[in-house]
Amino acid sequence: MMREGTATLIRREDYAAPAFWIRTVDLSFDLDPAKTLVTSKMQVERNTAVAHGPLVLHGEELNLLRVLINGESVSFRQDGHLLIIEGAPDADFALEIRNTCAPEKNTALSGLYTSGGGFFTQCEAEGFRRITYFLDRPDVMAVYTVTLRADKKKYPVLLSNGNLLETGELDNGRHFAKWHDPFPKPSYLFALVAADLVAREQRVKSRSGKDHLLQVYVRRGDLEKTEHAMNSLIASLVWDEARFGLPLDLERFMVVGVSDFNMGAMENKGLNIFNTSALLASPATATDADFSRIESIVAHEYFHNWTGNRVTCRDWFQLSLKEGLTVFRDQEFSMDMAGTPSARAVCRIQDVRSLRAMQFPEDGGAMAHPVRPDQYVEINNFYTATVYEKGSEVVRMYQTLVGRAGFEAGMKLYFERHDGQAVTCDDFAAAIADANPGSALASRLDAFKRWYSQPGTPRVQARGHYDAATQTYTLTLSQSNKGQAPQVIPVVTGLVGHDGTALAEQLLVLDAAEQSFTFENIAAEPVPSLLRGFSAPVLLDDGLSDAELLVLLKHDADAFNRWEASQRLALNRILAAVRAGQPLVLDAAYVEAMRSVLRHPELDAAFKELALTLPGEAYIAEQLEVVDPQAIHAAVEAAQIQLAQALREDWIAAFEANQIQGGYTPDPVSAGRRALANLALSMLVLDAQRSGDTVWPGRAYQRFKDATNMTDRLGALAALVNAHAELAESALSRFHAQFKGEPLVIDKWFALQARAPEREGKSFARVKQLAMHADFSLKNPNRARSLIFSLALFNPAAFHRADAAGYVFWADQVLALDGINPQVAGRLARAMDRWTTLAEPYRSAAREAIARVAAKAELSNDVREIIERQLA
Ligand code: ARG
Ligand code: ZN
Repeated sequence: MMREGTATLIRREDYAAPAFWIRTVDLSFDLDPAKTLVTSKMQVERNTAVAHGPLVLHGEELNLLRVLINGESVSFRQDGHLLIIEGAPDADFALEIRNTCAPEKNTALSGLYTSGGGFFTQCEAEGFRRITYFLDRPDVMAVYTVTLRADKKKYPVLLSNGNLLETGELDNGRHFAKWHDPFPKPSYLFALVAADLVAREQRVKSRSGKDHLLQVYVRRGDLEKTEHAMNSLIASLVWDEARFGLPLDLERFMVVGVSDFNMGAMENKGLNIFNTSALLASPATATDADFSRIESIVAHEYFHNWTGNRVTCRDWFQLSLKEGLTVFRDQEFSMDMAGTPSARAVCRIQDVRSLRAMQFPEDGGAMAHPVRPDQYVEINNFYTATVYEKGSEVVRMYQTLVGRAGFEAGMKLYFERHDGQAVTCDDFAAAIADANPGSALASRLDAFKRWYSQPGTPRVQARGHYDAATQTYTLTLSQSNKGQAPQVIPVVTGLVGHDGTALAEQLLVLDAAEQSFTFENIAAEPVPSLLRGFSAPVLLDDGLSDAELLVLLKHDADAFNRWEASQRLALNRILAAVRAGQPLVLDAAYVEAMRSVLRHPELDAAFKELALTLPGEAYIAEQLEVVDPQAIHAAVEAAQIQLAQALREDWIAAFEANQIQGGYTPDPVSAGRRALANLALSMLVLDAQRSGDTVWPGRAYQRFKDATNMTDRLGALAALVNAHAELAESALSRFHAQFKGEPLVIDKWFALQARAPEREGKSFARVKQLAMHADFSLKNPNRARSLIFSLALFNPAAFHRADAAGYVFWADQVLALDGINPQVAGRLARAMDRWTTLAEPYRSAAREAIARVAAKAELSNDVREIIERQLA
């Protein structure tokens, strides 16, 4: 994609307030796919805090028709993506701009674009400037009035933010709608939709007694797939009022689904726009994982109404102010929705698993950046696991340090101080600390804020010493993060007796390079259970022996650490085999421990499934200095095959015991049982490949055909595909035929094949073949992700090939995607973030592929920034 030399590095320290404010905007759109006319009438005033200077507006890929100040034409110049008006008056003035844009040519899906015959917008981070010229920065907040005009037949539904003021008929079969949003907002929260949609509607009364109309808009055939999203929205509303006292501030709250979307969803004021993959669910087409992801994304966008919209970011370096906080809020919501302590623990385990799989590698690789970045070329490259997920862990640590009630008081103060403002992460930190004077946070606030400024995952080492004579146990904790200053690390610590007795639990705050903590009255040597609930996003070396890990696996009162013990036992074995270059052979102690988990009469199915799932290959790679993806894969596969064989009878029992009679509900208990049944089935089919048994592949095929919900159907299909069973082929073609009218299910069909564990190059060959399938297209982000991203980001053994074919394919796809959609191309480029740790021959081949992308003259800023960081 051609870009005109706009690759400037933006620095946080260069922040300056704008020279002008835009107070109100009156926008009108004459919508046409080829050429949409935009008229923008703004009330502008000079920012008296800033000395004289020109009015500089942003605009990209626009065709400018005229510029008027107070109704008179005015001289201006254009410089790249800037429109500069030197003669802007000092007194308040009216600015009118007219321009056109071309929605149907907008394959970048940023700004105003068409999808499935309708118009949609995505303005975060800097898409508004692709609609009209504006001060497109989050600290400029205006009140919007929006008039949409479009063909009535093609676009019967016309939506924008806020309240509907007026609708009516126009000539030539066109109609109009006029909207007004009373809340001043930054341009990134603007949205419009013009399309042929239908809505599920629900009226609700909030605690305070106000009436609200909730609407979920989708294409005609999708209405029955919106029930879950509507229920999730209602639950979010209730939760935010109950937990944080935050009510819905609008009479109408709209959610719209669109099939072409760069991310999950967007929190535009009163008009959230969702990727259909994050919105639509029915038992027949969506899995348990989809149901829970939808619940959390609907909640996330709804929660942004306060954390993001009512209080927004001063500049994009502060992105985690809204994203880290809102992820924290959606994670808390999901835990509260899950209900029981063990279902809450399952939520936490899943969140940590994805943090470790995505954020830890990011923090150790080419794109490592602090939660509050210091510089960027393309802000869209910084919607990352660090800003979102690590940012959420930082918010969680505030809560751990000041307690739940203290955190709620801090949130209250935050809104009292900053409602209606665009603020910084420092403002948030100050509010939480000021509401909790004398807390473990307030006394260490400056040191705590290193979580915002220092990149990298701190390593914490813990060593215990028991003194029988004094009955004391002393724990020495130390930390390091690439020579940076010590961080404030809350270490929730329990002591567990070898017989399982809970001896103590305490919050230890590690804030120096090394510190010792002594527990008194400890009658016998305990096993330390550190970092309970994963109380800080660090890598922990606790030096525990297998025997000690087995004690925790059996007895720890903290379910998270119980699971962690299962993972550590597996990880130790996998790492030992990989480091020694030896085939992995599982020992009886480990196998028996896993057998007792699987047979345990009290543990939940969901927990068993998590404990028996081996650590992910990306997380394993993070533990190694030199990474051989094939060796890691071989060790994991060997462990899987041996667990499948050794526990065969137990897998059969687990499969049989977790069949669910009756209708489908996505509740955590049923979902956990389906997950365990699916894991058991995949183990049994895998073992059948070894033994030559045909019964279990046959049963899997039968279950695949007869399943009454997508979780069971896809689970059975995965069991066949992942084991490379013969029946996989016919199941795959049957699945495709059955769901050819359901794009989100066809995405699953592509993804499942692209993620299949590599065996003799078959998975890679299949991806290359599928890239030529009639249903494949790089233009739809979901489809591109389902195939290409699944291979390059989620199937290391298929991607990292000794013959470099994976890297050649990656480079081709990055370049092709960059010409269509730079944001999505930038994400794919990141598959090479960790190339410097690769073993040969992968390392040299990776460098060559990256260099080939870098050599292309016309790269987007998105891809250029990633590639240059990789080569730096
Ligand atoms: N604010 C959205 C969310 O997390 C993400 C939108 C980001 N989009 C983008 N193109 N950078 O809820
Ligand atoms: Zn968000």
